Amino acid sequence: MWNRLVQSLSAGLLLARALYATVLVDFQVAQPPPLPSDAQQCTIQILERTFGNSYGDPEIVQYTPPTDCGDAGSWAGISLNFTVTSNGTQYDRLGIFTFQNVEIWRTSTPEPTTDGIIWTYLKDVTRYLPLFSEPGTFILELDNILESGLNGQYATTLTATFYASSNAHPPAARANTIIPVTTLANNTGDEASVPPIFSLNVTVPQNAVAIYAELYASGNGDEEFWYYNVANEYLNYLPSGFTYGNGPFREVRMLVDGQVAGVAFPYAVIFTGGISPTAWRPITSYGALDLPTYFIDLTPFVPVLTDGQPHNISIDVVSAESNHTINDNWYVSGNLQVVTDSSSSRTTGNITVYNVEPYAETSVTGTEDLSGDLTVTVTAKRSILIQSEFTSGSGQRTSVSWAQNLEYSNTQYYLNDYLVNNVAQTATGSFLSTHNGVAALVDNFSYPLNINMTYTDDSYDSFTAEFDHSYDRVSLPSPFILGSTITERQVAASFFTISSSGNYGNGTDNNTFNYVDLNGNTYWRDVGASDNNITYDSIGGSLSGSPFTLPISAPLAQGVMAKPRLPGGK
Ligand SMILES: *[C@@H]1O[C@H](CO)[C@@H](O)[C@H](O)[C@H]1NC(C)=O
Ligand SMILES: *[C@@H]1O[C@H](CO)[C@@H](O)[C@H](O)[C@H]1NC(C)=O
Ligand SMILES: *[C@@H]1O[C@H](CO)[C@@H](O)[C@H](O)[C@H]1NC(C)=O
Ligand SMILES: *[C@@H]1O[C@H](CO)[C@@H](O)[C@H](O)[C@H]1NC(C)=O
Ligand SMILES: *[C@@H]1O[C@H](CO)[C@@H](O)[C@H](O)[C@H]1NC(C)=O
Ligand SMILES: *[C@@H]1O[C@H](CO)[C@@H](O)[C@H](O)[C@H]1NC(C)=O
Ligand SMILES: *[C@@H]1O[C@H](CO)[C@@H](O)[C@H](O)[C@H]1NC(C)=O
Ligand SMILES: *[C@@H]1O[C@H](CO)[C@@H](O)[C@H](O)[C@H]1NC(C)=O
Ligand SMILES: *[C@@H]1O[C@H](CO)[C@@H](O)[C@H](O)[C@H]1NC(C)=O
Ligand SMILES: *[C@@H]1O[C@H](CO)[C@@H](O)[C@H](O)[C@H]1NC(C)=O
Ligand SMILES: *[C@@H]1O[C@H](CO)[C@@H](O)[C@H](O)[C@H]1NC(C)=O
Ligand SMILES: *[C@@H]1O[C@H](CO)[C@@H](O)[C@H](O)[C@H]1NC(C)=O
Repeated sequence: MWNRLVQSLSAGLLLARALYATVLVDFQVAQPPPLPSDAQQCTIQILERTFGNSYGDPEIVQYTPPTDCGDAGSWAGISLNFTVTSNGTQYDRLGIFTFQNVEIWRTSTPEPTTDGIIWTYLKDVTRYLPLFSEPGTFILELDNILESGLNGQYATTLTATFYASSNAHPPAARANTIIPVTTLANNTGDEASVPPIFSLNVTVPQNAVAIYAELYASGNGDEEFWYYNVANEYLNYLPSGFTYGNGPFREVRMLVDGQVAGVAFPYAVIFTGGISPTAWRPITSYGALDLPTYFIDLTPFVPVLTDGQPHNISIDVVSAESNHTINDNWYVSGNLQVVTDSSSSRTTGNITVYNVEPYAETSVTGTEDLSGDLTVTVTAKRSILIQSEFTSGSGQRTSVSWAQNLEYSNTQYYLNDYLVNNVAQTATGSFLSTHNGVAALVDNFSYPLNINMTYTDDSYDSFTAEFDHSYDRVSLPSPFILGSTITERQVAASFFTISSSGNYGNGTDNNTFNYVDLNGNTYWRDVGASDNNITYDSIGGSLSGSPFTLPISAPLAQGVMAKPRLPGGK
């Protein structure tokens, strides 16, 4: 049995290699969806679309739940398969999947090569099961632009696989309802652009007894390299137009009727055209295909939100500057996963503790030495504690506590006549909510980021860049999302030259990844790449499926790469 499996996998991979002899197979290292491979599976195609000149022209399709893997909503799990090919020259583009006005996945595209690329990302979307149980509108916004020198189109296919429940695999735990905190647009993706602050009136069921919020947030435009933005106090120490201001600290906040309910210190996702494109092919930087989301327990606000009236829920992103301003723009959205009581009567109670400052406690310090070397450090920290007591219509009393402790530090080094631009950033935190003493939401994270860039001269056309970036997270986002421990690190080095006769460069990227979840699933991968070639690759764990992979390579496509995007818009 095992031998036959190995043989057929081996034949399949050899075939794949023959078919894609020069097509580069891009990927983000991540665990496969932790769903039961021995359950009956039903796959449907949700959409198929080639995104050419697609700015402002999203794909909008109607979804109907399948009925051949049990009743709609009875499933043990749901996964998505997004498979894309592209060739030519193109920037990375943001992709936003909106389903029934809820953002369910934010991705971005790897940049193509002349000979072509292909990638597949499999995503567990079981937590959105209430949405998949009903017919509704599915939107993929992928704003691509074709113009002189940029001819790459993205040919996409999205399928959904439903895993039938059975005695062995019970139906997935689910929220009773999911409420969007989005623009609610029906003709495009539902992310909001901030600043200014985004607010929406939301009416919560009067019998709600738990509310878990999920936040999507990514920096774009002048905020793509937010961790490299310089504190305003030191901006004029640098040559004019050198970089953006408003500093490097970013806090994503969710507010209820103007009161902060919870915050996130975001992970810095580097897109595949970010700083040094040659560092990010074929292994994308972590998060580029599946941007991390952040979780807040809003349950302490249940007594306030269950009055049957609309409440003003806001999402914004603020800095450590004195007026908390940031640049344009961050795309944000949120959703509330709501649990309701068996009784339809109103939940009543009180917030008993609210120890929250509107903004984090921050500091900005800098030094410039006689040679003009500038070092600027920005720090932030904050603690949040919110508690409440309430009684449901059925008489169940709940005592909730929500605590967040976060710390942040960013040091930027501008050395050697500003040719050396290094950044050392770290964000750490621990979140814990308890409902009647039982942990409901846990998030312990550490996101260290170190980038050392050296430009060859002040034309800023040629540079080396070294990256050491980690994502270490122990999380139990809610009772509807499987708790997991992820330990991820990428160490990459690259060289890049922007030239009118063709951009060129090289790069190596070594990625170690380990995943363990509360269902006992495991996955690890240790993979390295050099100039488009996989140099080593070992994979293991219960989710690994395939016992081995073949190295896949393609010649380095020089002279056809899009210009990289650089900190400060250089
Ligand atoms: C994902 O979808 C692609 C194309 O739609 C298909 O070729 C591939 O086999 C799928 N992968 C998995 C693991 O289902
Ligand atoms: C390259 O792109 C063109 C246009 O989208 C398409 O017709 C062609 O099949 C693609 N080739 C490869 C190898 O992907
Ligand atoms: C989008 O459609 C939904 C459902 O029909 C509706 O509630 C909502 O108001 C619409 N959004 C806009 C912006 O018109
Ligand atoms: C929310 O509703 C209130 C009262 O119904 C209204 O005054 C307010 O303008 C609304 N706010 C938003 C953001 O729509
Ligand atoms: C909602 O709250 C935000 C944050 O306090 C505020 O900026 C906005 O004006 C409020 N919107 C309404 C309609 O009250
Ligand atoms: C915040 O302060 C910066 C620097 O002083 C200034 O440029 C900006 O206009 C201010 N923004 C707002 C919204 O006041
Ligand atoms: C909420 O507080 C009020 C006033 O302090 C009190 O009368 C009421 O009993 C409290 N309700 C609950 C459910 O604890
Ligand atoms: C999370 O971090 C806190 C504070 O460091 C620690 O007490 C707790 O044990 C951690 N929880 C998990 C699940 O790692
Ligand atoms: C990166 O830059 C930092 C700060 O300038 C420096 O301490 C560190 O040694 C550099 N790392 C490498 C690998 O050059
Ligand atoms: C990645 O690993 C290879 C092989 O061990 C090594 O030669 C290379 O220097 C490493 N790259 C980085 C950026 O550390
Ligand atoms: C890139 O190429 C240069 C020149 O050939 C070489 O010195 C450097 O080590 C290479 N860097 C990487 C990261 O492969
Ligand atoms: C990458 O692989 C290709 C094809 O196997 C080979 O021609 C090329 O020399 C390799 N490049 C590096 C840097 O190893």
